[in-house]
Amino acid sequence: MRAVLVYLCLICMFVECYSSDFKKPTIVFSILVRNKAHTLPYFLTAIENLNYPKHRISLWIRSDHNVDNGIEILKIWIEVNKLNYHSIHTHFEEENYIFPEESGLGHWSIDRFKHVISLKENALSFARKNWADYFLTIDSDVFITNPETINYLIDKNFTVASPMLRSDGLYSNFWYGMTEDYYYQRTEKYKPVLYRKEQGCFNVPMVHSCVLVNLRKKESDLLTYDPSNLDNFNGPIDDIITFAISANKSNISLNICNEQNFGFITVPLEQNDDLLTDIEHLRNIKLEVLNMEKPLEVKDYLKIYTSLPKKDTMNFDKIFMINLRRRPERKIRMMNVFNELGIEASTLEAVDGKSLTEAELNKILFLPNYADPYHKRPMTKGEIGCFLSHYNIWKEIIDKGYKQTLVLEDDIRFESFFRSRVKIVMNDLLKIPDWDLVYFGRKRLQEKDEPWVEGSSSLVKAGYSYWTLGYVLSQKGAQKLLNADPLSRLVPVDEFLPILFDKHPQDNWKSHFPRRDLVALSAAPLLLYPTHYTGEEGYISDTEDSVIVTEAKSYTRDDL
Ligand SMILES: *[C@@H]1O[C@H](CO)[C@@H](O)[C@H](O)[C@H]1NC(C)=O
Ligand SMILES: *[C@@H]1O[C@H](CO)[C@@H](O)[C@H](O)[C@H]1NC(C)=O
Ligand SMILES: *[C@@H]1O[C@H](CO)[C@@H](O)[C@H](O)[C@H]1NC(C)=O
Repeated sequence: MRAVLVYLCLICMFVECYSSDFKKPTIVFSILVRNKAHTLPYFLTAIENLNYPKHRISLWIRSDHNVDNGIEILKIWIEVNKLNYHSIHTHFEEENYIFPEESGLGHWSIDRFKHVISLKENALSFARKNWADYFLTIDSDVFITNPETINYLIDKNFTVASPMLRSDGLYSNFWYGMTEDYYYQRTEKYKPVLYRKEQGCFNVPMVHSCVLVNLRKKESDLLTYDPSNLDNFNGPIDDIITFAISANKSNISLNICNEQNFGFITVPLEQNDDLLTDIEHLRNIKLEVLNMEKPLEVKDYLKIYTSLPKKDTMNFDKIFMINLRRRPERKIRMMNVFNELGIEASTLEAVDGKSLTEAELNKILFLPNYADPYHKRPMTKGEIGCFLSHYNIWKEIIDKGYKQTLVLEDDIRFESFFRSRVKIVMNDLLKIPDWDLVYFGRKRLQEKDEPWVEGSSSLVKAGYSYWTLGYVLSQKGAQKLLNADPLSRLVPVDEFLPILFDKHPQDNWKSHFPRRDLVALSAAPLLLYPTHYTGEEGYISDTEDSVIVTEAKSYTRDDL
C-alpha cells in the first residue's frame, strides 16, 4: 500500500515539474470602458481575481466619451495593480462628451460603431505586433466569477472561444442563429445551452463581450473587426458581426463553452435608456449572483465607488424574514439581498421543529387523519416549526396593530425590478375594498386560469396553492387566521391558508374549519420564487425532509 502511494506521489511530482517547466502563454487583454463607473469596481475586482500569472498579461485599456467618473476608477485600479502586470497601455480622454448623432447612452450611432471598430482593431494589432500568444477582449459589464476561466479556455485549444455568461434574463454573449442579413435569430438550441441543460463547447455563429483568440494559430491572422478588411461583405458596420463573419469566411469556428459557471453579463441598454437603467441592470445581476453563489466581489479599495440604496419598509408597517438560527448562511444571503434592494426587514427567529420538546409537541393537536397528499404521511417537525413561526408573526401583527405586513421566508429569489413591481401591486390593492392576504410567491396547483381581480392588472384571486415564500397580510387577515384556532387542528401552513380561503380540494379537512372567508389574492406575475426547486442541486427543505412525527404521543428524542 505504502509503496503504491510513494509511486503515485513520484508520478505527481514528475507531472507537476514537467508542466511547470513552461511559462504560461502571454495574453493581451483589450478593455474598452464607456460610462461604466458603476460596474467597474466589480469588473476590475474580477479581473484582479483571475487565477493567471499577471506578469504574463498585458492590459490595453481605452476610455473616452464618458459622462461619469469611470476614468478616475480605472486610474486608481491601475495605480494599485501596475507593478503586477507585464505592462499596461492606456489612452484616456477625460472630456465629457457624446457622439454627435447619439440620442442616448444605449444608442449605437454610426460614429460610435466606427470608433469601437477602430479601437478593437487597434487592440488586436497591438497584440499581434507584440507577439502575444492570446488576445482576450472583455467588456466592462462582464463579471468573470470563475477565476479559472482563462486556463479553462486555453486548455480547450480552440482558435476562438468564449465562456458562456448569464444575465438576469434570456440575454447572453452568444447567438445560436444568424439570419442571412446578419440579424440575431433565436433557435431552439439557444435555451438548452443558456440553461446548461446541454453542456460542452458549441460551434455558434456569434460570440461577443468576452472572447479569447489564440493568436498562435495561423488562421487567426484572418480575423478582423473592420468590415473594410473583408471582401464582398455587404453587412452592417458593426464590430461583432464583422468579427463573426471574418471567422466564418476563414472557416474558423466560434465556440461558446458552458461546462462550468463562468460569470455574468448585464443586459445592454435600449436606445433611449439612461444611466439609472444601467445601474438597475447591474443590481439585477448582483441579485442573480446572490441567488447562485456568494455576492459579487468587490475589493475594499474600490468599495467607495459602489453604492447601495437607502433602506425602507416599502410602506409596509413591518417586513419579517423568517430564519432558522441553524441556517445562518441563508440569513446572510437575505441580508445581502435586502441591502441591494434597500429593504428594511426584521429577522424573526423561526421555531426549530428539531428542538421542540415533547411537552411542546403534546400541546399541539393535529387535524384528524391528516396525511400529506403526496407522501401520505403526517406532519414533519419541520412543518410544525414552520407553522409556529408564521403563527408567531400573526400574533405579533395583532399585538402591535400592524395594518400591512410583508412576511418573507429565507430561501427566496426576488424577481427583477422587485421594488417597482411591489409598488404596482400595492397601488392596485388600494382600489380593492376588501382583502386579507396577497401571495407574492407560491406554487400554483390548479390548472385553470385564476380570475383577475376587477380593475387590476397585477392581481388575481388565488386558487389552491402551496408554499408561503412571501405574502402580505392585513391586520384583519391575521385576526382571521388566529380566530381559526389552527393549533388545535394543525395542518401545514400552506394547506391551512387555502382551507381558510376555501379553495382547498379536501372537503373533509375543510369541515374542521367552519369559517373559511379569508380573502386571498396573488400578485400576477409572481414576485418571489424559491431559490431552488425540489430535486435541484442544493435544495434543502427544512420542512419537508425533516423527521416525521407519526403521532405527537409516540414522539421520542431518538427521532432527531
Ligand atoms: C491543439 O490544436 C492543434 C491544431 O490547431 C493541434 O495540432 C494540437 O495537437 C492541439 N493540442 C492539443 C493539446 O489538443
Ligand atoms: C473547415 O474546417 C473543417 C474542420 O476544421 C474541415 O473539415 C473543412 O474541410 C474546412 N473547410 C474548408 C472549406 O476549408
Ligand atoms: C459558416 O456559416 C455557415 C452558414 O451558417 C455554417 O454552416 C458553417 O458551419 C460556418 N462555418 C464555421 C466554421 O462555423
